[in-house]
Amino acid sequence: MAVTGNGDSSGGNRCLFADSEMCAFSCGTNLGGIIMEKKDIDWSNLDFSYHVTDQRYVAHYKDGAWDEGGLTSDDKIVLSEDAGVLQYSQSVFEGLKAYTTEDCRTVCFRPDLNAHRMYESAAYLEMPPFPAERFLDAVRQVVKANEAWVPPYGSGASLYIRPYMFGSSPVIGVAPADEYQFRIFVTPVGPYFKGGVKPLTLKVSDFDRAAPHGTGHIKAGLNYAMSLHAIMTAHREGFAENIYLDAATRTKVEETGGANIIFVDADGNLVVPKSPSILPSITRRSITYVAEHYLGLKVDEREVLFSEVPNFKECGLCGTAAVISPVGKINDHGKEICFASGMKEMGPVIKKLYDTLTGIQMGHIEAPEGWIYEIK
Ligand code: PLP
Ligand code: COI
Repeated sequence: MAVTGNGDSSGGNRCLFADSEMCAFSCGTNLGGIIMEKKDIDWSNLDFSYHVTDQRYVAHYKDGAWDEGGLTSDDKIVLSEDAGVLQYSQSVFEGLKAYTTEDCRTVCFRPDLNAHRMYESAAYLEMPPFPAERFLDAVRQVVKANEAWVPPYGSGASLYIRPYMFGSSPVIGVAPADEYQFRIFVTPVGPYFKGGVKPLTLKVSDFDRAAPHGTGHIKAGLNYAMSLHAIMTAHREGFAENIYLDAATRTKVEETGGANIIFVDADGNLVVPKSPSILPSITRRSITYVAEHYLGLKVDEREVLFSEVPNFKECGLCGTAAVISPVGKINDHGKEICFASGMKEMGPVIKKLYDTLTGIQMGHIEAPEGWIYEIK
C-alpha cells in the first residue's frame, strides 16, 4: 500500500492526476490527506465472483427494534440451526454498484431506489423493513471503508454492493422470525455474462419463475433458489439464460433469472414488457427515462406476447449485474429467433442506450437530478 500526502483534507476522493488516462489506474483513496492505493488486482479481467473485502455492515433487529449497527471485519455469521432463513428461506436482498467516475469520485447509482425496493420486499415477507435513510448511510459506510476495492475508472469493473436481510431467530411452526440481521458486503466484479458484451443466446424455459400473485415482484432469495434448476438446465444445454413466460398462460414475455428484458421494434421504438410478476428493475426504469429524455425514443411499456418477438429487431437484458447485455438469439424449443442485430455486436439502439446509461453512471454524461450518490 503506497502512501503519499497531497495536502487535500477535504475528505473526498480526489485524484492527484488531472488527465483521465493517468487517473484510470492511479486513483487512490484520500484518507484525510493520505492517498491509499487501490488493491493490487487485475481489474480488467475480473469476472462476476465473490472476493472477501475488508469491511461489511451489520445491524440486528431484536425486541422490536433495530440496533445502531456498524462495520465489522468479520465475514462469518453464526446462526441457530433453526433460524428462519435456514428453515423457511426468510431472506431478501438487493444489488447495486459503486463506480469510480472519470474525475475520480466514488459514486453509487440510484441507491434510494434499492432502499425503497428492499423496504417493500421485506414488508412482503413479514420482515421489519430497514429504514431507507439508514440503508443509504450503511451503503455509504461500507463503500467508504472498502474504497481501495472500488475498481478504477476505465477498468470496466465496478464494486458490487449486496445488501441483504434474513430471519435469524429460531422458528419451527411456519411463522416469521422474531429477530433479523441486515447486512451489506461488497465485492469487485467484472461482467456478469462470460464474454462481456457479446450477444447472448437464451432459451425459452419450460419452468416458471414466478406465480401470479406470488413473489416475482420482490427481491426474495426464494425466487432465485427456485430458478437454480432452470438455470443449470439452460447452461447444460449451452444457453446463457432462460427467458420465462407468464406462468398462467405461457403466452407473454416476463423476464430472465437475473434481469428484465427490453426489445427494439421495427420502427426503432423501445418495447418494454410489463407484468405484475417481474422484478421492477431499477436499470430498466432508468433506461426508459434515458430512451425518452436523452435519445428521443418512443417507449412502449406493455404486455408483450411471445408471438410478437420475431418481429423485433433488437433485444437486450438489463439489470445491475447485467448492465445492458445484448441478446442475439432466442431458442424456442429448437426453433431459433435471430435478431437482425446478429451475434457479433450490440444492435444500434441498444448500443446508444448502453453508452448513455454507462456514461451517466461513470460521470461523463450529466445525470438527471438525484441519480448519482457520491460517497464522501
Ligand atoms: N430481474 C431480476 C430477476 C433480477 O434479479 C434483477 C437484478 O437485480 C433485475 C431484474 C434487474 O434489476 P435492477 O436493474 O434493479 O438490478
Ligand atoms: C443484480 O443485478 O444485482 C442481481 O441481483 C441479479 C443477480 C442475478 C446477480
